Amino acid sequence: MSKDVFFNTLNYSMANEDSTFEWSICQALRPRRILAICGSGARVLPLAGTAPEKITALDLAEQQLALGELRSALMRREPLESYKKFLGYPPFATSLHRAERAALFADLKLSAPARAYFQDHFRKNGWQGLLYDGRWEKTFTGISKKVRLLVGSRYDEIFEFKNFAEQKAYFDLKLQDRTWKFAPGATLMLVGNATFFNAVLYGGRFPRKNLPGSHFRFYVDRFSRLLYNGLTRENFFLQIMFLGGLRYPEGCPIEVTPEIYKASQAALQAGTEIEFVAKDLLTFSEETREKYDFVSLSNVPSYFSGDMERTFMSRLKACLNPGAVVVVRCYLRIPEGTDLSGYVDITSSYQEPALAEKMQVYNIMVYRFVG
Ligand SMILES: C[S@@+](CC[C@H](N)C(=O)[O-])C[C@H]1O[C@@H](n2cnc3c(N)ncnc32)[C@H](O)[C@@H]1O
Repeated sequence: MSKDVFFNTLNYSMANEDSTFEWSICQALRPRRILAICGSGARVLPLAGTAPEKITALDLAEQQLALGELRSALMRREPLESYKKFLGYPPFATSLHRAERAALFADLKLSAPARAYFQDHFRKNGWQGLLYDGRWEKTFTGISKKVRLLVGSRYDEIFEFKNFAEQKAYFDLKLQDRTWKFAPGATLMLVGNATFFNAVLYGGRFPRKNLPGSHFRFYVDRFSRLLYNGLTRENFFLQIMFLGGLRYPEGCPIEVTPEIYKASQAALQAGTEIEFVAKDLLTFSEETREKYDFVSLSNVPSYFSGDMERTFMSRLKACLNPGAVVVVRCYLRIPEGTDLSGYVDITSSYQEPALAEKMQVYNIMVYRFVG
């Protein structure tokens, strides 16, 4: 178990990154070996659909790795509907199908630590679906539920649109209306309250923000972008923020997109190996004998400071094949003074998927290792 208090609990159970971005790069480049930060596992498993030989899913938190393992065991053998029902994706509810969930869990092939962890977790949550059990998901759905107590279902209509031009005209009008903006504003006040957030969600562990402007302004900007970035009903983050959970299946994260699920399942069944490793990213990259062609760092580098933020890209080289592509997400903090020698910045080639990303809270950088 990690000694770090923050990374020793289930922090993420669904997705707080839209890994369509990483998936589209892997789909184009078809890397043979992938190294990825595990998180909930939902950010990693879709990459299996691009048929690599091997994926190494890495995390400091054994709870996250257990969840990644559970997801991969489910995906390997269950049809999509059953996978969604187990986790609680719409149209299924996390509160229903408890006996079925318990029976399926009993039958899954899992390591002893993963089984023990979830046996205990399900005993505590009464065999509910896991989708909103991470601390991140609990924090966000909790904020939304509080705001809904005040304003009811008044904002649900923002998810009714199936035509983008109509949705745009609606927001153009509503965003001029101070009364209408009350609830989104209150939500953003809570989300954008740095002290609250660092204390509740990150246990005081989050590094100092170095993007300019206040936290509140950051979220207002990113949210304004999201309201004009495709249909709201197709966005899982907006559904979580306004509805307190997922209601519209078309907004589910990429892991349950039918063609991607099918491709990932086929790859896992055909022999794509997936290993779950409890280790710090940089320790792993310097110790392993494996070489990787694609590395997805999530926003782990946002947590680095000092020597770490300067040297992490050069330390990572130890596990890269020539030509390897590395994706770095930065949330609130961009590493400073990073030594990027041996890399070419190819971020500009990925503008389109970056603009379509469903959370818009990350600055995403893409580098090619040229040796
Ligand atoms: C960095 S978090 C990203 C979550 C989210 N995007 C956010 O900032 O709230 C994703 C995962 O990285 C893991 N993690 C953090 N630092 C790590 C490190 N140095 N090595 C390996 N995993 C790490 C965490 O345990 C977590 O499950």
